[in-house]
Amino acid sequence: MSEIKIAPSMLSCDFANLAEELKRIDVGGADYIHLDVMDGHFVPNITFGAPVIKAMRPHTNKIFDVHLMIDPVDAYVEDFANAGADIITIHAEAGKHPHRTLQKIRALGKKAGIALNPATPTDVLDHVMDLVDLVLVMTVNPGFGGQSYIPLEDKIADVRARIEATGRAIDLQVDGGITPETAVKVKAAGANVLVAGTAIFKDGADHYAEAIAKLKDA
Ligand code: DX5
Ligand code: ZN
Repeated sequence: MSEIKIAPSMLSCDFANLAEELKRIDVGGADYIHLDVMDGHFVPNITFGAPVIKAMRPHTNKIFDVHLMIDPVDAYVEDFANAGADIITIHAEAGKHPHRTLQKIRALGKKAGIALNPATPTDVLDHVMDLVDLVLVMTVNPGFGGQSYIPLEDKIADVRARIEATGRAIDLQVDGGITPETAVKVKAAGANVLVAGTAIFKDGADHYAEAIAKLKDA
């Protein structure tokens, strides 16, 4: 399996110092910068949109991994592509035509991801695997940082098997409640990209690099 990548979720950073926080996370060894977009409709919380991501873009060259928790999603995909997203992940339930949305993301020259809520079955992947570069298995119900990990190792393993069957290097990302302890479990189940907010930001800026390394080496 491919090398483990760490995607710090900026949801837990100091929003009053976004540029500085991005630099610290970049220098601290982040592989992807995970950006959680919430609309107060698909999930019960509101965060930030494309203009904020555009403002963040000049402050790091790292991959912007944009997690869209919005419904409808189609009409906004182009805005996020133009704002500097490298990977755009949509939820399987966001919009009536996820296949079309994934095609649209690819047509914009971006990598396309599909996210599965804890209760979403993996067979939603059946007819879209050729269109995805990333599958995100949510290990909390989306909407908030700091929630407890839901043990879904069987599901992660199922997605890993589906990815292996394609023969393509599709990322298997896990998001929600990731700590050095749960990281061991999700890695063993086949995840190769770990999103983490609380575990990376909770001890302050002096510990970002250490927290990222702990998850990577867990
Ligand atoms: C939750 C978001 C996550 C969140 C993770 O809806 O998608 O990316 O920031 O936060 P932690 O790591 O604290 O569970
Ligand atoms: Zn996320």
